Amino acid sequence: MTKYALKCVISSIIILPILFFSGCKGKEKEHKVEEKKDAPILGEYILKFSHVVSPNTPKGKAASFFEKRLEELSEGRIDVQVYPSSQLYKDNAVLKALKLDTVQMAAPSFSKFGKIVPQLALFDLPFLFKDMAHIHRVQDGKEGQKLKDMVNSKGYIALAFWDNNFKQLSSSKKPLILPEDAKGQKFRIMSSKVLEEQFNVIGANPQMMPFSEVYSGLQQGVIDGQENTISNIYTKKFHEVQKYLTMTNHGYLGYLVVMSEEFWNSLPQDLQKAVVQAMKEATAKQREYAQELNAKQFNLIKEYARQSGKLEIINLTKEQKDAWRRAVSKIYPDFYDSNKIGEDLIKGVLATE
Ligand code: LMR
Repeated sequence: MTKYALKCVISSIIILPILFFSGCKGKEKEHKVEEKKDAPILGEYILKFSHVVSPNTPKGKAASFFEKRLEELSEGRIDVQVYPSSQLYKDNAVLKALKLDTVQMAAPSFSKFGKIVPQLALFDLPFLFKDMAHIHRVQDGKEGQKLKDMVNSKGYIALAFWDNNFKQLSSSKKPLILPEDAKGQKFRIMSSKVLEEQFNVIGANPQMMPFSEVYSGLQQGVIDGQENTISNIYTKKFHEVQKYLTMTNHGYLGYLVVMSEEFWNSLPQDLQKAVVQAMKEATAKQREYAQELNAKQFNLIKEYARQSGKLEIINLTKEQKDAWRRAVSKIYPDFYDSNKIGEDLIKGVLATE
C-alpha cells in the first residue's frame, strides 16, 4: 500500500463515522464517490525527492510543503516521498540518479552542477551579490532563465531556484578576522572550482568533501574549518566541533530544484500543471523558511556559545569585511571564459540593481 493510500485509509477510518452520523450531507458525498467513474488512482505516480540536509532546514521544510501540496493538487495520484539527510544519494550523485529516473526530484546546491552546467557557479562567486533581494532579481530575471535553459538542454527539468542564505566561515584553529588568518588552514568545500579558487587565493587549503562527511571531518581534525549557512551549521552541529565562527556573509548558498525528464514526460498535462503550481507555492514558502530558520537557528547557536563557552562568534567591522571582499573578488576574471561562467553573466549580475 502506498503512503498516500495509507494516509487516505487512516483519514477514512476517522472521517467515515463522522459522515455516517452527520445525516444526508454525508450520505450524498459517499454516494458521489461511489458513482464517480474516473476516480483518481491513488499513488499512480511515485515521486521520490532526495536531498542531503536535515528536515528542519529551508530545503527540508519546503520539500515537505511541496509533498503535501502536490498530493492535494493531484488528488493523491502523485505520491511524493521525501528522503532527507543523504539517505538516498550524496551530493552530486543525485544528478546521475535523476538521469536514470531512479529518483525523480532533487534540489542540489549550485556547486554540485559543476560537471553539467558549470555556469551555475555564478552563484558561488564571493561578494558578488548585495543581498537576498539582489539574488532574487537575478534568479527571476534573464540570467536566471538563461541558467535554467542550460540545465534543461542537458536533459533535466529545471523547476525553481530555492534559497538557503549567505555562508559563514568557521575554524577550530584560529579566529578568522582577516583573510591572512585563513592561511594554511584546511577548509571543506563543495565540488566547485570557484570555491577552490576562493580559498587558494587567500593561501588556504580547500578540500572537497561530501556534506554528510563534514561533521566527522571537523571532529577528527581532517579539516580545520568549513563554510556554510547558519541553518546547515546548526542542524548538522558543526558549531559544536569548531572554536570560532566568523559572520562573513561572503557567499551565497542556494539550490536549483530539478526533475527527471523521463518522469516529467510521463505525466499527463493536468499533473504537470499541478507540479508547476505546487512548486510555485513551495518556492514562495521556501524563501520565508530560509529567512526565518537562519535567524532562529543563529539565536540557538548564540545561546550555545553563551552557555558552553566553547564557541566564539566574531562579527567583522566594515574594514575587515572589505579586506575579505578585496582578497577574494580578485578571482572573478578567472571565470570570464563562457565555458566556466562567462563575463556576460558576471557583469550582468553586477549591472542588476
Ligand atoms: C553543502 O554541501 O554544504 C550544501 O550543498 C548542502 C545543502 O544542500 O545545503
